[in-house]
Amino acid sequence: MTAFFAAEPEEAEALREALAAQETLEAPFPLYQGEGLLVAETGVGKVAAAMAVAHVLTRFRPSESFFLGVAGALDPSLRALDLLLAEQAVQWDVDLTPFGRAPGETALGVRFFPSDPGLLKRAERAAEALGFPARRGVVATGDRFLADPKEAERLRALHGADAVEMEGAAALMVAWRFRHPMALVRAVTDGAGEGATGDFQAFLKAASRRLGLLARALVE
Ligand code: ADE
Repeated sequence: MTAFFAAEPEEAEALREALAAQETLEAPFPLYQGEGLLVAETGVGKVAAAMAVAHVLTRFRPSESFFLGVAGALDPSLRALDLLLAEQAVQWDVDLTPFGRAPGETALGVRFFPSDPGLLKRAERAAEALGFPARRGVVATGDRFLADPKEAERLRALHGADAVEMEGAAALMVAWRFRHPMALVRAVTDGAGEGATGDFQAFLKAASRRLGLLARALVE
């Protein structure tokens, strides 16, 4: 069984529609079942994402999962609706540097949490088949909506990150601890600088629709 996770109602709704996931399951967040799959609406932020992923993995034991959603581009060559296939993700707001750790390095000693390579390859092939521009890269995750060009540049330089969002590294960290294969894919809505909130709102629906089509291709 494949589990799909998305943070926002708009994103989860697009996944549900594309995957015909209708039956409501009991969970401390919106959760829906389809043919051989689940769609979970985690809510926004690292805590919400980690809680939902841990719950679904424990309670429903999916064999694989995808975390899909939108992101702000840190790489200026990324355009709205482009897909970023996250090879790895870092929590940019984790800071144990006073103890000599690298920026973003967790107390586990891990800084970058990986997507499952096989699942990421599947997503790459699906994106290509659908004609969606996509490339691999690094995601930076933190509990803050980034709308600050200086901070965006800083995160790109510090972590080599191509996009920023609010759940991915937390979800991948939980998956890593459970030894569960998960891949993270993001669609760009904004540039994480000036105008980010307006661009986010303008592109959220179209980006979510694109992720829905990708999700359907992933299970077909
Ligand atoms: N998700 C989409 N755009 C974002 C941004 N600029 N910051 C954080 N999360 C986002």
